[in-house]
Amino acid sequence: LAIRGRLGLHFDVDKLSLLGEILGRRAEANGHTPTSYIRAIEARGEADGEIGTLAEALTVTETYFFRNAEQFRALVEVVIPSRTPTQPPGSPLRILSAGCASGEEAYSLAMLARDRPELAGVRVSVIGVDVNPSALERAAKARYSSWALRETSPEAQARFFHNDGREFLLDGEVRASVTFQRRNLIEDDPAFWRPGSFDVVFCRNVLMYFAPDTAQAVVTRFSRSLVPGGFLFLGYAETMRGLSQDFHLRHTHGTFYYQKRDSTNARGYEIFDQGFAALPRDLPPPSRYDSSSSNHGLVRDGLDQSWIESIRHSSERVESLTSRAQSDASRAARLDVTKRARERPSFDLSRVVDLMRQERFGEAGAVLAELPPESTHDADVLLLRAVLLTHGGDLAAAETLCREVLMLDEMSAGAHYLTALCREDARDRVGAADHDRVAVYLDPSFAMPRLHLGLLARRGGDFGAARRELVEALALLQREDTSRLLLFGGGFGREGLIALCRAELRSCGAAS
Ligand SMILES: C[S@@+](CC[C@H](N)C(=O)[O-])C[C@H]1O[C@@H](n2cnc3c(N)ncnc32)[C@H](O)[C@@H]1O
Repeated sequence: LAIRGRLGLHFDVDKLSLLGEILGRRAEANGHTPTSYIRAIEARGEADGEIGTLAEALTVTETYFFRNAEQFRALVEVVIPSRTPTQPPGSPLRILSAGCASGEEAYSLAMLARDRPELAGVRVSVIGVDVNPSALERAAKARYSSWALRETSPEAQARFFHNDGREFLLDGEVRASVTFQRRNLIEDDPAFWRPGSFDVVFCRNVLMYFAPDTAQAVVTRFSRSLVPGGFLFLGYAETMRGLSQDFHLRHTHGTFYYQKRDSTNARGYEIFDQGFAALPRDLPPPSRYDSSSSNHGLVRDGLDQSWIESIRHSSERVESLTSRAQSDASRAARLDVTKRARERPSFDLSRVVDLMRQERFGEAGAVLAELPPESTHDADVLLLRAVLLTHGGDLAAAETLCREVLMLDEMSAGAHYLTALCREDARDRVGAADHDRVAVYLDPSFAMPRLHLGLLARRGGDFGAARRELVEALALLQREDTSRLLLFGGGFGREGLIALCRAELRSCGAAS
């Protein structure tokens, strides 16, 4: 708890003995007993030097130049053009690299500013902050191994680095354009985090080490200090789901990032869907998902039908999915609304879920229809309605409801997955795959969008991609939440879905 309070770091149970060892060593080195050491850590101000030493021992500082290059491309091609017309001429683009480690991310941004013609004439100021003093010392020296340059193009290496023995020294001008500060992200500092201080924040591969409440507080700080419409980039394994509703999700260049809401960027999904439609997105070319493929369906019981047709025809008994008690306990997990939405007064939907489990879909719909009028603004209720409409085959109405859910909660993985089914039904395989990918990004443990991506790829003849998705889906299905299977499994039980996955894998050439 002391470490969480001072550094925000969260340790899983299997890491606790390692943490204990490190703390024990530090207590001894400081002439403390373990108890008095923890007290000293908790007492703010007293042990600040020690917090730095602990940060060195406990944080992961792995990084390299131009890590996740797609995000840098999105910065150049989306962020810069979206911003410059609204800013006073000559004002710099202020970028924060939060959790900058030894500086590679901050310096990559500075190099980009010098390198890309799109940025000619845009003044860029980059500030890197980190809690780890020795990482910051390395940043200040700007001397790197070839390993740190593994994603740096030969041209950029030649232009911005000088060989010095086996190391590479960064060009002085680039170094001078970045400033570094020691700063603990979990500590507030109103002067530093004042409103409108930054246009862009990169905070990649940092939040993943924080406890959820700490991550939420840090994201709130980013939100406060970003200009309206400013951008936030997180690491690949990190999402804003459950942390904040202040941002729109953006998906271009094969990557995800966030834009702070403001009065001009209309509510979420509209912009995601339309405003950015012309930009390159993480999609296979349409031809690969063309519905003209002869083997265009889901193989099951000799049928070759689309997933949504399978849902309609499914004869698997939903009762086999789950025990009753389990499902009621985890309503929030299966409906995947954000924490904030969960905190709103909500409606008791256990009866609806029970009826669905018994395949009494009509009655479940009737119970939903009797809920008070304010339920029409509840993401859970709307999502359940969309599930029922999908079961009933009214995909157009289901998609409209999913849109409403996404207006309330842009990060609803369930609504994106259902939208994928609706898009497929509308013969929009590209849109279907896109929404599946968003669902996978938002909730990497969600098996159904993976399975659906596998089916789409197999139908499009891309057997390699199909195998990759199906293998992932198979692993996820073994541990998927039973209640979520009830809602999104299309009437198939876990065993049925696993069998389907295996059959699909065989049909695209995988050894069973
Ligand atoms: C894995 S590195 C990420 C480096 C870079 N952002 C990237 O993605 O390549 C994580 C960094 O976060 C820093 N960090 C962890 N907790 C922090 C905190 N409370 N305040 C500031 N930095 C922190 C660590 O010291 C470490 O340098």
